[in-house]
Amino acid sequence: MNYKRYAYINTIGCQMNVYDSEKLADILKSHGFEMTREMDKADIVVCNTCSIRHKAEEKAFSFLGKFAKEKKKRPHLITVMAGCVAQQEGEKAFARVPHLDIVLGTQAISRFGRHLDAFKSGKRQIVDIEESDVIFEAMPDIPVSSGSDFDENKISRFITIMQGCDNYCTYCVVPYVRGRERSRSHAGIVDEITLLANSGIREITLLGQNVNSYGVKEEGISFPQLLEKVSAVEGIARIRFATSHPKDLSLELIHAIRDIDKVCNHLHLPVQSGSNKILKKMNRGYTRETYLQRINALKKACPGISLSTDIIVGFPSETLEDFNDTMELLKTVEFDSIFAFAYSDRSSAPAAKFLDQVEETEKKRRLNLLLELQDVYTDKKNKALVGNSIEVLVEGKSLKQHDGFIKASDKMKQMTGRSASNKIIHFPSENSAIGDLITIRIENAYPHSLWGYPLGVEKNEK
Ligand code: 5AD
Ligand code: SF4
Repeated sequence: MNYKRYAYINTIGCQMNVYDSEKLADILKSHGFEMTREMDKADIVVCNTCSIRHKAEEKAFSFLGKFAKEKKKRPHLITVMAGCVAQQEGEKAFARVPHLDIVLGTQAISRFGRHLDAFKSGKRQIVDIEESDVIFEAMPDIPVSSGSDFDENKISRFITIMQGCDNYCTYCVVPYVRGRERSRSHAGIVDEITLLANSGIREITLLGQNVNSYGVKEEGISFPQLLEKVSAVEGIARIRFATSHPKDLSLELIHAIRDIDKVCNHLHLPVQSGSNKILKKMNRGYTRETYLQRINALKKACPGISLSTDIIVGFPSETLEDFNDTMELLKTVEFDSIFAFAYSDRSSAPAAKFLDQVEETEKKRRLNLLLELQDVYTDKKNKALVGNSIEVLVEGKSLKQHDGFIKASDKMKQMTGRSASNKIIHFPSENSAIGDLITIRIENAYPHSLWGYPLGVEKNEK
Protein backbone atom coordinates (compact mmCIF):
# COMPACT_ATOMS: atom_id res chain seq x y z
CA MET A 1 0.00 0.00 0.00
CA ASN A 2 1.23 3.46 -0.84
CA TYR A 3 0.66 5.78 2.11
CA LYS A 4 1.93 9.26 2.77
CA ARG A 5 4.69 9.95 5.25
CA TYR A 6 4.72 13.25 7.12
CA ALA A 7 7.45 15.42 8.63
CA TYR A 8 7.12 17.98 11.41
CA ILE A 9 9.83 20.57 12.09
CA ASN A 10 10.01 22.64 15.25
CA THR A 11 12.36 25.60 14.81
CA ILE A 12 13.76 27.31 17.91
CA GLY A 13 16.06 30.35 17.76
CA CYS A 14 17.24 32.81 15.18
CA GLN A 15 16.52 33.57 11.53
CA MET A 16 19.42 31.37 10.47
CA ASN A 17 17.65 28.41 12.02
CA VAL A 18 14.53 29.32 10.04
CA TYR A 19 16.61 29.19 6.87
CA ASP A 20 18.30 25.93 7.91
CA SER A 21 14.88 24.40 8.59
CA GLU A 22 13.84 25.23 5.04
CA LYS A 23 16.88 23.31 3.81
CA LEU A 24 16.02 20.39 6.10
CA ALA A 25 12.47 20.46 4.72
CA ASP A 26 13.82 20.40 1.15
CA ILE A 27 15.78 17.26 1.97
CA LEU A 28 12.84 15.63 3.73
CA LYS A 29 10.64 16.34 0.72
CA SER A 30 13.21 14.84 -1.63
CA HIS A 31 13.03 11.72 0.60
CA GLY A 32 9.29 11.41 0.11
CA PHE A 33 7.99 13.22 3.19
CA GLU A 34 5.24 15.79 3.14
CA MET A 35 5.38 18.63 5.66
CA THR A 36 2.65 18.76 8.30
CA ARG A 37 1.62 21.24 10.97
CA GLU A 38 0.13 18.40 13.04
CA MET A 39 2.71 16.83 15.29
CA ASP A 40 0.57 13.75 15.99
CA LYS A 41 0.48 12.91 12.32
CA ALA A 42 4.25 13.05 11.84
CA ASP A 43 6.43 10.04 10.95
CA ILE A 44 9.54 12.12 11.54
CA VAL A 45 9.95 14.96 14.05
CA VAL A 46 12.89 17.34 13.74
CA CYS A 47 13.76 19.87 16.41
CA ASN A 48 16.10 22.54 15.05
CA THR A 49 17.68 23.81 18.24
CA CYS A 50 19.31 26.96 19.65
CA SER A 51 21.89 27.18 22.45
CA ILE A 52 22.39 30.94 22.71
CA ARG A 53 20.75 31.05 26.15
CA HIS A 54 19.97 28.38 28.74
CA LYS A 55 16.21 28.77 28.26
CA ALA A 56 16.36 28.02 24.51
CA GLU A 57 18.43 24.90 25.20
CA GLU A 58 15.95 23.66 27.82
CA LYS A 59 13.10 24.22 25.38
CA ALA A 60 14.77 21.84 22.92
CA PHE A 61 15.29 19.08 25.49
CA SER A 62 11.79 19.38 26.84
CA PHE A 63 10.27 19.28 23.32
CA LEU A 64 12.23 16.19 22.29
CA GLY A 65 11.79 14.53 25.69
CA LYS A 66 8.04 14.45 25.11
CA PHE A 67 8.44 11.81 22.41
CA ALA A 68 9.58 9.02 24.76
CA LYS A 69 5.99 7.79 25.27
CA GLU A 70 4.99 8.45 21.68
CA LYS A 71 7.88 6.31 20.40
CA LYS A 72 6.70 3.39 22.55
CA LYS A 73 3.30 3.65 20.88
CA ARG A 74 4.69 4.27 17.38
CA PRO A 75 8.14 2.68 17.10
CA HIS A 76 8.47 3.78 13.46
CA LEU A 77 8.54 7.47 14.53
CA ILE A 78 11.95 9.05 13.76
CA THR A 79 13.24 11.81 16.08
CA VAL A 80 15.99 14.21 15.04
CA MET A 81 17.87 16.87 16.97
CA ALA A 82 19.43 19.40 14.58
CA GLY A 83 21.19 22.75 15.05
CA CYS A 84 23.29 24.34 17.76
CA VAL A 85 22.39 22.11 20.74
CA ALA A 86 23.02 19.05 18.55
CA GLN A 87 26.44 20.41 17.61
CA GLN A 88 27.26 21.22 21.22
CA GLU A 89 26.07 17.95 22.74
CA GLY A 90 26.95 15.34 20.07
CA GLU A 91 26.80 11.82 21.60
CA LYS A 92 25.87 13.30 24.98
CA ALA A 93 22.41 14.16 23.64
CA PHE A 94 21.47 10.44 23.92
CA ALA A 95 22.08 10.52 27.67
CA ARG A 96 19.31 13.08 28.09
CA VAL A 97 17.08 11.89 25.23
CA PRO A 98 17.67 8.12 24.88
CA HIS A 99 14.98 7.70 22.24
CA LEU A 100 16.68 10.14 19.87
CA ASP A 101 17.56 8.68 16.45
CA ILE A 102 19.68 11.30 14.69
CA VAL A 103 21.87 14.13 16.07
CA LEU A 104 22.61 16.49 13.21
CA GLY A 105 25.16 19.27 13.82
CA THR A 106 25.13 22.71 12.26
CA GLN A 107 27.48 21.76 9.43
CA ALA A 108 25.81 18.45 8.66
CA ILE A 109 22.65 19.69 6.95
CA SER A 110 23.85 18.69 3.47
CA ARG A 111 24.41 15.13 4.77
CA PHE A 112 20.94 14.76 6.32
CA GLY A 113 19.68 12.72 3.36
CA ARG A 114 22.53 10.26 3.72
CA HIS A 115 21.66 9.77 7.40
CA LEU A 116 17.99 9.22 6.58
CA ASP A 117 19.05 6.45 4.19
CA ALA A 118 21.32 4.92 6.84
CA PHE A 119 18.43 4.97 9.30
CA LYS A 120 16.24 3.20 6.76
CA SER A 121 18.91 0.51 6.45
CA GLY A 122 18.77 -0.12 10.19
CA LYS A 123 21.44 2.21 11.61
CA ARG A 124 20.44 3.78 14.96
CA GLN A 125 21.68 6.64 17.16
CA ILE A 126 23.38 8.44 14.30
CA VAL A 127 25.62 11.42 15.20
CA ASP A 128 27.13 13.86 12.73
CA ILE A 129 28.90 16.88 14.18
CA GLU A 130 31.67 16.93 11.57
CA GLU A 131 32.87 20.19 10.09
CA SER A 132 32.20 20.90 6.46
CA ASP A 133 33.37 23.39 3.86
CA VAL A 134 30.14 22.97 1.97
CA ILE A 135 27.64 25.66 2.80
CA PHE A 136 24.43 25.18 0.90
CA GLU A 137 25.75 25.41 -2.69
CA ALA A 138 26.17 21.66 -2.96
CA MET A 139 22.83 20.55 -1.62
CA PRO A 140 20.92 17.63 -3.16
CA ASP A 141 19.63 18.20 -6.67
CA ILE A 142 16.41 19.79 -5.60
CA PRO A 143 15.36 23.35 -6.25
CA VAL A 144 17.21 25.61 -3.84
CA SER A 145 14.99 26.66 -1.03
CA SER A 146 11.66 25.46 -2.32
CA GLY A 147 10.70 26.28 1.26
CA SER A 148 9.12 24.45 4.12
CA ASP A 149 6.65 27.13 4.89
CA PHE A 150 2.98 26.42 4.62
CA ASP A 151 2.16 29.99 3.86
CA GLU A 152 1.93 29.97 0.09
CA ASN A 153 1.43 33.70 0.10
CA LYS A 154 4.69 34.44 1.82
CA ILE A 155 6.55 37.25 0.08
CA SER A 156 9.55 37.62 2.36
CA ARG A 157 12.39 35.11 2.84
CA PHE A 158 15.69 34.79 4.71
CA ILE A 159 18.86 33.76 2.96
CA THR A 160 22.07 32.82 4.73
CA ILE A 161 25.10 34.34 3.01
CA MET A 162 27.75 33.32 5.50
CA GLN A 163 28.13 30.94 8.40
CA GLY A 164 30.07 30.86 11.65
CA CYS A 165 31.80 33.63 13.55
CA ASP A 166 35.40 34.58 14.35
CA ASN A 167 34.66 37.34 16.83
CA TYR A 168 34.63 35.38 20.08
CA CYS A 169 32.55 37.69 22.22
CA THR A 170 33.13 36.22 25.67
CA TYR A 171 29.44 35.47 26.41
CA CYS A 172 28.66 33.81 23.09
CA VAL A 173 28.49 30.15 22.03
CA VAL A 174 28.18 30.86 18.31
CA PRO A 175 31.90 30.45 17.42
CA TYR A 176 31.84 27.05 19.17
CA VAL A 177 28.62 25.71 17.65
CA ARG A 178 28.65 27.30 14.19
CA GLY A 179 32.39 27.11 13.50
CA ARG A 180 34.73 29.51 11.73
CA GLU A 181 33.36 32.27 9.57
CA ARG A 182 32.95 31.43 5.88
CA SER A 183 31.07 33.13 3.07
CA ARG A 184 29.03 31.71 0.22
CA SER A 185 29.87 32.65 -3.35
CA HIS A 186 28.04 35.71 -4.61
CA ALA A 187 26.96 33.80 -7.72
CA GLY A 188 25.26 31.12 -5.58
CA ILE A 189 23.50 33.76 -3.50
CA VAL A 190 22.28 35.72 -6.53
CA ASP A 191 21.09 32.49 -8.23
CA GLU A 192 19.09 31.52 -5.16
CA ILE A 193 17.56 34.99 -4.86
CA THR A 194 16.67 34.99 -8.57
CA LEU A 195 14.82 31.68 -8.08
CA LEU A 196 13.01 33.14 -5.08
CA ALA A 197 12.10 36.30 -7.03
CA ASN A 198 10.77 34.19 -9.89
CA SER A 199 8.53 32.38 -7.42
CA GLY A 200 7.03 35.69 -6.23
CA ILE A 201 9.26 36.63 -3.30
CA ARG A 202 9.47 40.44 -2.99
CA GLU A 203 11.66 40.92 0.07
CA ILE A 204 14.79 39.16 1.20
CA THR A 205 16.87 39.36 4.36
CA LEU A 206 20.54 38.46 3.96
CA LEU A 207 21.84 36.65 7.04
CA GLY A 208 25.26 36.32 8.65
CA GLN A 209 26.70 36.76 12.14
CA ASN A 210 28.68 39.71 10.84
CA VAL A 211 27.70 40.59 7.28
CA ASN A 212 30.28 43.36 7.21
CA SER A 213 33.05 40.82 6.90
CA TYR A 214 31.28 39.02 4.03
CA GLY A 215 33.85 37.76 1.51
CA VAL A 216 36.86 39.14 3.39
CA LYS A 217 38.48 35.74 4.05
CA GLU A 218 37.69 34.51 0.57
CA GLU A 219 39.03 37.76 -0.94
CA GLY A 220 35.80 38.04 -2.89
CA ILE A 221 33.48 40.98 -3.35
CA SER A 222 32.57 43.11 -0.33
CA PHE A 223 29.16 43.13 1.35
CA PRO A 224 28.15 46.51 -0.16
CA GLN A 225 29.11 45.09 -3.59
CA LEU A 226 26.94 42.05 -2.87
CA LEU A 227 24.06 44.40 -2.04
CA GLU A 228 24.51 46.01 -5.49
CA LYS A 229 24.35 42.61 -7.18
CA VAL A 230 21.29 41.54 -5.22
CA SER A 231 19.51 44.81 -5.94
CA ALA A 232 19.87 44.07 -9.66
CA VAL A 233 17.63 40.99 -9.27
CA GLU A 234 14.32 41.81 -10.91
CA GLY A 235 11.21 41.37 -8.78
CA ILE A 236 12.95 41.94 -5.45
CA ALA A 237 11.56 45.17 -4.00
CA ARG A 238 13.28 45.24 -0.64
CA ILE A 239 16.57 44.06 0.80
CA ARG A 240 17.27 43.76 4.51
CA PHE A 241 20.24 42.25 6.30
CA ALA A 242 21.39 41.16 9.75
CA THR A 243 23.66 41.34 11.62
CA SER A 244 26.21 44.12 11.36
CA HIS A 245 28.99 44.22 13.94
CA PRO A 246 29.60 47.81 15.11
CA LYS A 247 33.39 47.40 14.99
CA ASP A 248 33.23 46.61 11.26
CA LEU A 249 30.49 48.99 10.15
CA SER A 250 32.12 50.69 7.16
CA LEU A 251 31.41 53.99 5.48
CA GLU A 252 30.97 51.95 2.29
CA LEU A 253 28.03 50.11 3.92
CA ILE A 254 26.51 53.34 5.23
CA HIS A 255 26.67 54.69 1.68
CA ALA A 256 25.11 51.52 0.30
CA ILE A 257 22.15 51.95 2.68
CA ARG A 258 21.88 55.56 1.53
CA ASP A 259 22.33 54.97 -2.21
CA ILE A 260 20.77 51.60 -3.10
CA ASP A 261 17.02 52.18 -3.36
CA LYS A 262 15.99 48.63 -2.53
CA VAL A 263 18.10 48.49 0.65
CA CYS A 264 15.79 49.40 3.53
CA ASN A 265 16.54 52.47 5.63
CA HIS A 266 16.93 50.35 8.75
CA LEU A 267 19.94 48.96 10.60
CA HIS A 268 20.19 46.41 13.39
CA LEU A 269 23.43 47.24 15.20
CA PRO A 270 23.87 45.26 18.44
CA VAL A 271 25.60 47.36 21.09
CA GLN A 272 25.26 44.81 23.96
CA SER A 273 26.29 47.34 26.64
CA GLY A 274 26.80 51.07 27.12
CA SER A 275 29.69 50.62 29.55
CA ASN A 276 33.26 50.65 28.23
CA LYS A 277 34.39 48.35 31.05
CA ILE A 278 31.77 45.75 30.12
CA LEU A 279 32.33 46.12 26.36
CA LYS A 280 36.00 45.35 26.97
CA LYS A 281 35.18 42.28 29.06
CA MET A 282 32.77 41.17 26.35
CA ASN A 283 35.60 41.48 23.78
CA ARG A 284 33.41 43.57 21.49
CA GLY A 285 36.26 45.55 19.92
CA TYR A 286 34.67 49.02 20.17
CA THR A 287 33.94 51.63 22.82
CA ARG A 288 30.74 53.45 23.67
CA GLU A 289 32.23 56.51 21.95
CA THR A 290 33.05 54.76 18.65
CA TYR A 291 29.59 53.15 18.64
CA LEU A 292 27.96 56.55 19.07
CA GLN A 293 30.18 58.05 16.36
CA ARG A 294 28.95 55.40 13.93
CA ILE A 295 25.34 56.00 14.91
CA ASN A 296 25.85 59.70 14.23
CA ALA A 297 27.40 58.99 10.84
CA LEU A 298 24.41 56.79 10.00
CA LYS A 299 21.85 59.35 11.13
CA LYS A 300 23.61 62.05 9.10
CA ALA A 301 23.97 60.01 5.90
CA CYS A 302 20.55 58.33 6.09
CA PRO A 303 18.04 60.75 7.61
CA GLY A 304 15.11 59.03 9.29
CA ILE A 305 16.97 55.69 9.47
CA SER A 306 15.33 53.29 11.87
CA LEU A 307 17.71 51.68 14.34
CA SER A 308 17.47 48.57 16.47
CA THR A 309 19.92 46.84 18.78
CA ASP A 310 20.61 43.88 21.08
CA ILE A 311 21.49 44.41 24.74
CA ILE A 312 22.65 42.04 27.46
CA VAL A 313 22.05 43.07 31.07
CA GLY A 314 23.70 41.51 34.08
CA PHE A 315 26.95 40.46 32.38
CA PRO A 316 29.46 39.32 35.08
CA SER A 317 30.73 42.31 37.12
CA GLU A 318 28.11 44.72 35.69
CA THR A 319 27.59 47.34 38.44
CA LEU A 320 24.67 49.72 38.72
CA GLU A 321 26.93 52.36 37.22
CA ASP A 322 27.66 50.15 34.19
CA PHE A 323 23.98 49.42 33.82
CA ASN A 324 23.23 53.11 34.02
CA ASP A 325 25.67 53.71 31.13
CA THR A 326 23.48 51.36 29.05
CA MET A 327 20.32 53.22 30.09
CA GLU A 328 21.97 56.51 29.12
CA LEU A 329 23.02 55.12 25.75
CA LEU A 330 19.39 54.23 25.03
CA LYS A 331 18.42 57.83 25.79
CA THR A 332 21.16 59.17 23.52
CA VAL A 333 20.48 56.95 20.50
CA GLU A 334 16.67 56.65 20.73
CA PHE A 335 16.41 53.24 19.05
CA ASP A 336 13.18 52.31 17.29
CA SER A 337 13.27 48.94 19.02
CA ILE A 338 15.57 46.77 21.10
CA PHE A 339 16.02 43.08 21.89
CA ALA A 340 17.19 42.83 25.48
CA PHE A 341 18.34 39.72 27.33
CA ALA A 342 19.45 38.77 30.82
CA TYR A 343 22.98 37.36 30.61
CA SER A 344 22.87 33.57 30.51
CA ASP A 345 25.93 31.55 31.47
CA ARG A 346 27.08 29.21 28.66
CA SER A 347 29.65 26.69 29.82
CA SER A 348 31.59 26.71 26.53
CA ALA A 349 31.93 30.51 26.46
CA PRO A 350 34.76 32.20 28.43
CA ALA A 351 32.49 34.48 30.50
CA ALA A 352 31.21 31.40 32.38
CA LYS A 353 34.50 31.53 34.30
CA PHE A 354 34.30 35.26 35.05
CA LEU A 355 33.90 36.32 38.68
CA ASP A 356 31.18 38.55 40.11
CA GLN A 357 28.16 36.94 38.50
CA VAL A 358 25.02 39.07 38.93
CA GLU A 359 22.07 37.56 40.84
CA GLU A 360 19.19 36.33 38.64
CA THR A 361 16.65 38.55 40.39
CA GLU A 362 18.86 41.59 39.87
CA LYS A 363 19.26 40.73 36.16
CA LYS A 364 15.47 40.56 35.82
CA ARG A 365 15.08 43.89 37.62
CA ARG A 366 17.57 45.59 35.29
CA LEU A 367 15.94 43.98 32.25
CA ASN A 368 12.54 45.36 33.23
CA LEU A 369 13.94 48.86 33.82
CA LEU A 370 15.58 48.78 30.40
CA LEU A 371 12.46 47.57 28.61
CA GLU A 372 10.34 50.20 30.38
CA LEU A 373 12.72 52.92 29.25
CA GLN A 374 12.72 51.64 25.67
CA ASP A 375 8.90 51.68 25.58
CA VAL A 376 9.13 55.47 25.86
CA TYR A 377 11.26 55.69 22.70
CA THR A 378 9.35 53.05 20.73
CA ASP A 379 6.20 55.02 21.48
CA LYS A 380 7.85 58.32 20.61
CA LYS A 381 9.17 56.95 17.29
CA ASN A 382 5.80 55.47 16.34
CA LYS A 383 3.88 58.65 17.26
CA ALA A 384 6.28 60.77 15.19
CA LEU A 385 5.05 58.90 12.12
CA VAL A 386 1.39 59.93 12.54
CA GLY A 387 0.47 62.14 9.62
CA ASN A 388 3.24 60.76 7.39
CA SER A 389 2.68 58.83 4.17
CA ILE A 390 4.67 55.61 4.22
CA GLU A 391 5.28 52.95 1.60
CA VAL A 392 4.13 49.54 2.81
CA LEU A 393 4.85 46.10 1.38
CA VAL A 394 1.58 44.21 1.74
CA GLU A 395 2.05 40.91 3.63
CA GLY A 396 -1.49 39.64 4.06
CA LYS A 397 -4.78 39.96 5.84
CA SER A 398 -4.59 41.60 9.22
CA LEU A 399 -5.34 39.24 12.07
CA LYS A 400 -6.19 42.25 14.18
CA GLN A 401 -9.71 43.59 13.96
CA HIS A 402 -9.55 47.31 14.54
CA ASP A 403 -12.72 48.85 15.81
CA GLY A 404 -12.83 50.83 12.57
CA PHE A 405 -13.15 54.38 13.66
CA ILE A 406 -13.90 55.06 10.05
CA LYS A 407 -17.17 53.99 8.55
CA ALA A 408 -15.88 53.71 4.98
CA SER A 409 -13.34 51.16 6.09
CA ASP A 410 -15.80 48.97 7.98
CA LYS A 411 -16.72 46.98 4.94
CA MET A 412 -13.18 46.70 3.66
CA LYS A 413 -10.69 43.94 4.21
CA GLN A 414 -8.17 44.71 6.94
CA MET A 415 -4.68 44.20 5.55
CA THR A 416 -1.21 44.31 7.07
CA GLY A 417 2.30 45.03 5.87
CA ARG A 418 5.60 46.55 6.85
CA SER A 419 7.35 49.82 6.21
CA ALA A 420 10.98 49.86 5.04
CA SER A 421 11.79 50.81 8.64
CA ASN A 422 10.27 47.45 9.66
CA LYS A 423 7.18 48.80 11.40
CA ILE A 424 3.97 46.79 11.21
CA ILE A 425 1.20 48.80 9.59
CA HIS A 426 -2.49 47.77 9.45
CA PHE A 427 -4.88 49.38 6.99
CA PRO A 428 -8.25 48.82 5.33
CA SER A 429 -8.15 48.07 1.63
CA GLU A 430 -10.47 46.61 -0.93
CA ASN A 431 -8.04 45.96 -3.71
CA SER A 432 -4.47 45.63 -2.44
CA ALA A 433 -2.85 42.25 -2.98
CA ILE A 434 -0.05 40.48 -1.13
CA GLY A 435 3.28 41.69 -2.52
CA ASP A 436 1.98 45.13 -3.56
CA LEU A 437 3.79 48.28 -2.54
CA ILE A 438 1.19 50.75 -1.37
CA THR A 439 1.33 54.17 0.29
CA ILE A 440 -0.43 54.50 3.63
CA ARG A 441 -1.20 57.73 5.47
CA ILE A 442 -0.60 57.00 9.15
CA GLU A 443 -3.47 57.95 11.46
CA ASN A 444 -2.76 56.15 14.72
CA ALA A 445 0.24 54.79 16.59
CA TYR A 446 0.01 51.79 18.94
CA PRO A 447 2.82 50.24 21.02
CA HIS A 448 3.60 47.57 18.41
CA SER A 449 1.93 48.76 15.23
CA LEU A 450 0.66 51.68 13.23
CA TRP A 451 -2.72 52.22 11.60
CA GLY A 452 -3.64 54.21 8.53
CA TYR A 453 -5.43 54.50 5.19
CA PRO A 454 -4.22 53.96 1.69
CA LEU A 455 -3.80 57.26 -0.13
CA GLY A 456 -7.03 57.92 -1.96
CA VAL A 457 -9.23 56.28 0.67
CA GLU A 458 -11.05 59.16 2.28
CA LYS A 459 -11.41 59.45 6.00
CA ASN A 460 -15.07 59.31 6.94
CA GLU A 461 -15.58 60.26 10.56
CA LYS A 462 -18.09 58.30 12.64
N1 5AD B 1 23.31 35.52 27.33
C1 5AD B 1 22.37 36.43 26.99
N2 5AD B 1 22.23 36.91 25.74
C2 5AD B 1 23.10 36.48 24.79
N3 5AD B 1 23.23 36.79 23.48
C3 5AD B 1 24.25 36.07 22.98
N4 5AD B 1 24.78 35.28 23.93
C4 5AD B 1 24.09 35.53 25.08
C5 5AD B 1 24.19 35.04 26.41
N5 5AD B 1 25.11 34.15 26.77
C6 5AD B 1 22.40 37.79 22.81
C7 5AD B 1 23.24 38.93 22.21
C8 5AD B 1 23.18 38.64 20.74
C9 5AD B 1 21.81 38.03 20.62
C10 5AD B 1 21.58 37.28 19.36
O1 5AD B 1 21.73 37.18 21.74
O2 5AD B 1 22.62 40.15 22.53
O3 5AD B 1 23.33 39.81 19.95
FE1 SF4 C 1 28.38 35.77 19.07
FE2 SF4 C 1 29.89 38.01 19.01
FE3 SF4 C 1 29.91 36.33 16.91
FE4 SF4 C 1 27.71 37.80 17.41
S1 SF4 C 1 29.76 38.60 16.85
S2 SF4 C 1 27.78 35.59 16.91
S3 SF4 C 1 27.72 37.87 19.63
S4 SF4 C 1 30.66 35.87 18.97
